Amino acid sequence: MRFAALFAAASLAISGVAGTPFTARDASTSDSDSTVSVNVNAVLGSDLSAANFYGAPYPPWHPRGNPGWYFGDHGYLYPHLPCLEGLLCAILRLLPLNFLHCPVKPPPKPPVNDGFTPTFRNLTGATQAGDYLTFGLVDTVAQCKAMCKEVQNCKFVNTYHDVNGKGGSTQLTCSLFSSCHDASDAINKGGQSQPDGSINYIRDSDGYCRK
Ligand SMILES: *[C@@H]1O[C@H](CO)[C@@H](O)[C@H](O)[C@H]1NC(C)=O
Repeated sequence: MRFAALFAAASLAISGVAGTPFTARDASTSDSDSTVSVNVNAVLGSDLSAANFYGAPYPPWHPRGNPGWYFGDHGYLYPHLPCLEGLLCAILRLLPLNFLHCPVKPPPKPPVNDGFTPTFRNLTGATQAGDYLTFGLVDTVAQCKAMCKEVQNCKFVNTYHDVNGKGGSTQLTCSLFSSCHDASDAINKGGQSQPDGSINYIRDSDGYCRK
């Protein structure tokens, strides 16, 4: 099973991480650090660093766009995606802030004043913009907002149903950006042919700007 292999690899790479001065500086330059990041990617199963858009290098509107991660209660539906729970979160906690980190699960009834202001609701287009950070799948809008708080420079979340898209997922797509957007950027209406011949379209698209 993949989990056992992951665990065996994890103990190797964590000792590598612990022996490396990962403190506040950018870890992308020296030789020893790049060796470590190779190990880390092998452990994580994909490159969940900011440089790789946290596992989703192609944005949602790109034909090759695929979610980079899943955060919610139905990880068994997405065995091919890094599921942000359990051991994976423990490993990610050891890594610098330019890697994805797991949010705390939001309460079932999130507070009204949750640190975000809606900028649009229920559109049939998703945000398409150059300040794209990453995208994944979630169960709820609150989970997407929680993800934003864990991603460096995240200022804006766009949640929507990508109907017929991305392998037919019924979960919400959670797309993150580093500046706020209004309805005028909600221009990704889908329209991509899927392997089964269907065409995807966007529903329930909401935007929230982080205060
Ligand atoms: C959202 O928009 C659709 C039309 O695209 C409409 O049928 C539906 O009632 C709207 N839902 C809400 C909650 O406003």
